[in-house]
Amino acid sequence: MRQQLENIRAEALAAIQNAADKADLEALRVRYSGKKGELTAILKSMGKLSAEERPVMGQLANEVRAAIEAAYEARSTELETLALARKLEAETLDVTIPAEPAPLGHLHPLTLTINEVRSIFEGMGFETIEGPEIEYDYYNFEALNTPANHPARDTQDTFYFSSDLLLRTQTSSVQIRCMEHRKPPIRVISPGRVYRSDAVDATHSPLFHQIEGLLVDENVTMADLKGALAVFAKGLFGEDTRVRFRPHHFPFTEPSAEMDVSCFACGGKGCRLCKGEGWIEILGCGMVHPNVLRGCNIDPEKYSGFAFGMGVERVAMLRHKIDDLRLVYENDVRFLKQF
Ligand code: DAH
Repeated sequence: MRQQLENIRAEALAAIQNAADKADLEALRVRYSGKKGELTAILKSMGKLSAEERPVMGQLANEVRAAIEAAYEARSTELETLALARKLEAETLDVTIPAEPAPLGHLHPLTLTINEVRSIFEGMGFETIEGPEIEYDYYNFEALNTPANHPARDTQDTFYFSSDLLLRTQTSSVQIRCMEHRKPPIRVISPGRVYRSDAVDATHSPLFHQIEGLLVDENVTMADLKGALAVFAKGLFGEDTRVRFRPHHFPFTEPSAEMDVSCFACGGKGCRLCKGEGWIEILGCGMVHPNVLRGCNIDPEKYSGFAFGMGVERVAMLRHKIDDLRLVYENDVRFLKQF
């Protein structure tokens, strides 16, 4: 029996030391010290031994059991340490590997257009200012020489919060807000959203953008208006661009005009873009009406000025040959990527 016990000890210790993982180890535990294990079987047969032999073998059996248990424990801890080391190894992060490039967006074509127009006028000393989109009737119409019942209001129906509070239909309202607070010389442009009660189609939207311009000083004439807007047109559409002014009517300017630029697609010969005209309408403009100046406490005998307003979508669509206004608002990345 002594030999049996020694054999089991040697065999078990070797096997345990070689166990590859926890499952292996558990199988060995069952095999040697489990209820039906080899060691247990020997212990059960102790009864057959003589009274002198029994305590001696008993002690040896206990030693063997303790040795095997200690070996389990030791190998078990060893296996855990090993598993952890392997896991850490597998999860190592190389922080020096270059990151996947994050997809970067860019400015919207309307913002790009506004920025280009801004930088041309800022080059001529114009400052960019902003005004509110929710506006009083007074600033949007009344102070712009467009009293209630004026026919010009028909073309600019909008969304009303109350009888005198509305979504502005034009950035011209900022002219008044500016002249109320500043005295000439004034040289400002004001880009922003405007609203009209229009149904959406390829050329209409209830929300769109305008850029307003205003210059007021002593001795400002129509020649200054033409000069400044010609510089603007060349800056935006190219050096060869010519401009022409057609008489028009706006309540807040007198005289008023619409400015066309020579078609930048065909140079003026006539093509699809300019519908065979050779010219493309770009903006409305004129000399600030004396009533408007007076309403802002600026003496029209001493000061004069010019103003203009253009649609940002229109300019962007012409320049980039966009044929449907809705594309500009849908935020389809395939469209936006092209700018
Ligand atoms: N506010 C006008 C519109 O929305 C555009 C305009 C015309 C603005 C003439 C001006 C101007 O400042 O002088 O149709």
